[in-house]
Amino acid sequence: MIGLDLSSVEDARALVHRIGDAGTFYKIGYQLGYAGGLSFARELVESGKKVFLDLKLHDIGNTVEAGVRAVSQLGVTFLTVHAYPQTMRAAVAGREGTALKILAVTVLTSYDDDDLVEAGYAPGHAADLVARRTVQARDIGIDGIVCAAPEASRVRALLGPDRLIVTPGIRPAGAATGDQKRVMTPQEAIRGGADHLVVARPIIQAVDPRAVAQAIVADISAASAG
Ligand code: C5P
Repeated sequence: MIGLDLSSVEDARALVHRIGDAGTFYKIGYQLGYAGGLSFARELVESGKKVFLDLKLHDIGNTVEAGVRAVSQLGVTFLTVHAYPQTMRAAVAGREGTALKILAVTVLTSYDDDDLVEAGYAPGHAADLVARRTVQARDIGIDGIVCAAPEASRVRALLGPDRLIVTPGIRPAGAATGDQKRVMTPQEAIRGGADHLVVARPIIQAVDPRAVAQAIVADISAASAG
């Protein structure tokens, strides 16, 4: 899916138009979401596209459940929440009876062991917290996990075959990595167990976004076939 990390609906609409049928699934995060992106999500859904709302919700259970119920009316496919048990239970309750799928973000990929200690966690490994929260997400009934591509095979082993794994930090061979530290190519990520890949800058900053999107889709198809 293509990350619409843009600051206006006009820019997003123009990009989606340029990409045309090479793009079927779009991710809207904080940047566009808080700049009219929620209405635009509905517009995309009405035009036949799928939408992943990357809002990373986390609040008291009652608020999360009500918020998720409201999002479920937009017709989007995926919504993210932080993988705290109370938050995950509330999100699962809020999407009950709808087609919305909830994805949990276990530990933000910008956090390492030291960042967790600074945030008040007992000294330990971020990877262990990812594993613990993955198991909790599975047991609570979360539909999938967002994780860095190199973590996908470990997460898959804990999650079982039925839940989804979505990985950002994807770079076609030879593309600039930017601030992403743990990147994989589309083929590597799919072979590692990912179901969906999020790609933003390599497509949205390309001279020809449609061509890059088509090349990535071909890469994914080759990995799935092979
Ligand atoms: O431009 P790039 O392909 O690196 O963008 C990746 C997208 O995935 C961005 O929208 C970013 O916010 C998101 N993301 C991420 N790492 C996470 C979760 C989400 O890069 N752990």
